[in-house]
Amino acid sequence: MSTPFIIGHRGACGDAPENTLTSIRRAAEKGALWVEFDTMLSADNQVILFHDDSLLRTTGTDALVADTDWRDLQKLDAGSWFSDQFTGEKIPLFSEAIDLLEELGLGSVVEIKPSEGRDEETARLSAQMIKDHWPAVLPTPIISSFNEDALRVVRDCVPDIPRALNVWKTIEGWQGKVQSLGCVALHSRHELLDETTASAIINAGYDLRAFTVNDPEQAHILSNWGVISIFTDFPDRF
Ligand code: G3P
Ligand code: MG
Repeated sequence: MSTPFIIGHRGACGDAPENTLTSIRRAAEKGALWVEFDTMLSADNQVILFHDDSLLRTTGTDALVADTDWRDLQKLDAGSWFSDQFTGEKIPLFSEAIDLLEELGLGSVVEIKPSEGRDEETARLSAQMIKDHWPAVLPTPIISSFNEDALRVVRDCVPDIPRALNVWKTIEGWQGKVQSLGCVALHSRHELLDETTASAIINAGYDLRAFTVNDPEQAHILSNWGVISIFTDFPDRF
């Protein structure tokens, strides 16, 4: 599936607090046409945008997302850790992010990021939200995950939405995994790639995207290898 070369990572998380509405808006202001963000569940099964299992790093609260209800998540400040300028920024619901994508006309990679042990329901509820609420004016999203169980659930819930497997530690065995999951793309940490591996993936008919790329020279090399998109914290750097 065709995507622009630049995809904003967690919105534009070099310029604004990650996985917030402001970060998504900032990515658009910086020229991105697509963004990536992470979906996770609150204790009471609301689909939110969040990266870590713990609330500590980005809200200062020493608790797990999976143990916290949406009502309490809403009270947290997810912006001031990044800069005073963003004090009071909220953790968004996935539904709020979808509304903003529609307003801005942005495409997106929805990365399913289940908390420990919540693979199935995070995938199911994220997929259901896309199925029920995806705006017809937007490009079809790509659903990605490091979590193979989550991708299997997505495949069964929304078989027509393209899926991508994320890889972090090793690229070994990629082909068997993407085939069995019915993925159309591989999203790799860029440090795992070389020209030969990139060619093998692309020649096998898969789209190859790389994260997280903030160096324009590295981006140029990846582009020459056939990587179709990079996830970057700084969409206007390229
Ligand atoms: O989806 C690409 C990238 O976001 C994966 O890594 O840890 O930033 O979610 P992470
Ligand atoms: Mg991500």
